Amino acid sequence: MSASSPVRPLSSARTGALSGTVAVPGDKSMSHRALMFGALALGETKIEGLLTGEDVLRTADALRALGAEIVRGEDGIWRTRGRGVGGLAEPDRVLDMGNSGTAARLLMGLVATHPFTSIFTGDASLTKRPMARVTGPLSQMGARFELRSKGRLPGAVIGTSTPMPVTYQLPVASAQVKSAILLAGLNTPGKTTVIETEPTRDHTERMLRHFGIEVVVEEVEGGALAATVTGQGELRGRDLKVPADPSSAAFPVVAALIRPGSELRLPNVGTNIRRTGLYTTLVEMGADIRFENAREEGGEPVADLLVRASSLKGIEVPPDRAPSMIDEYPILGVAAACAEGKTVMRGLAELRVKESDRLAMIASGLDACGVKLEMGEDWLVVHGTGKPPVGGATVATAMDHRIAMSFLVLGMASDQPIAVDDGGFIDTSFPGFVTLMNQLGAGITEV
Ligand code: S3P
Repeated sequence: MSASSPVRPLSSARTGALSGTVAVPGDKSMSHRALMFGALALGETKIEGLLTGEDVLRTADALRALGAEIVRGEDGIWRTRGRGVGGLAEPDRVLDMGNSGTAARLLMGLVATHPFTSIFTGDASLTKRPMARVTGPLSQMGARFELRSKGRLPGAVIGTSTPMPVTYQLPVASAQVKSAILLAGLNTPGKTTVIETEPTRDHTERMLRHFGIEVVVEEVEGGALAATVTGQGELRGRDLKVPADPSSAAFPVVAALIRPGSELRLPNVGTNIRRTGLYTTLVEMGADIRFENAREEGGEPVADLLVRASSLKGIEVPPDRAPSMIDEYPILGVAAACAEGKTVMRGLAELRVKESDRLAMIASGLDACGVKLEMGEDWLVVHGTGKPPVGGATVATAMDHRIAMSFLVLGMASDQPIAVDDGGFIDTSFPGFVTLMNQLGAGITEV
């Protein structure tokens, strides 16, 4: 999406059952990292299944501006030639990260320990989001920052030529912050350690190992996890396959659960336990989801999913599950709206600083569709009746792809169609969402 992209209102109406096989696009988190590590690695890296969503294209573009060679072949395979650890070059243009917090924060970490200045910006959503969570620890490593008030973009990262290793305990559960520090640590002499009390997605740790870097993860006091990289080693070019994104798969999965008679197959979905909190929750709610042919690919677990329509019941979601399903609360809100009874979600403070204030957007959208709920600073309770809600509203999406997709899914079950004010941002993570859902039997139309 660019600032000049036209808004794209969409509407979703109830149709018959959904059926078929769903080719969900590649994992967004892994796609960003695959390009970044390929841009550092010596030799060629070949990436199959890379997500071609806007967010990942921003990362590719920024890495090219930093001197890496990145091309997409006609066969859909991406090839990178990296510059070696510490070998990125000063960009001669502004690095525009669009809507992507992951691209911005991870790349800020990467350039923080390179001795040059980079200017970062983003769209109207990203430039509202907090960056102090990465600039704080990266400053301790020696980088300097000139950002707008409240640590927001646009701003400059003045990388250091004499990086210092840190041991940093994360004050918020954030894989983006953890990864930014570990990436800065790659070009820092000595050991850089990040301690997390709530485990977050570990794709950085796993993929760095795949590229030949030693990453040690140990349990420390109180059960916290400490991830350590020893800096100034080299990454080696590798081949890798990116599995389908469990966060994107969540939309067709919930659509199938709430449309009677539906049955969907979703091959090759990532099942890393740090990402599958929604699936655990849905199964506890009574969902018929099977994980078949479980296997490992490129250091990550994957499985084929089989989902059948199910009667869902409200449950209490354990707050410590939040990091493993942080992007899935919007679609869980939709499942909860169609379930029977109360679904209680706590520990949601981080939802306030996503692509939108997601907690507020879920609540206002559900409310507009006739769903009973209560919301607090970091919690949400949805009162389902066991029947789909009335719908019949136009839901505000606030530049948030996951809010848009969630309410289009709710529109597939609700009595009246549901419109979203702008579906354009769906392309940031799930290009082809509308076509794919309609092929399965959904009724999504341009307004
Ligand atoms: C991501 C981490 C999460 C998630 C985001 C992707 C990543 O953010 O919300 O969509 O790829 O590391 P936080 O780490 O800030 O919670």
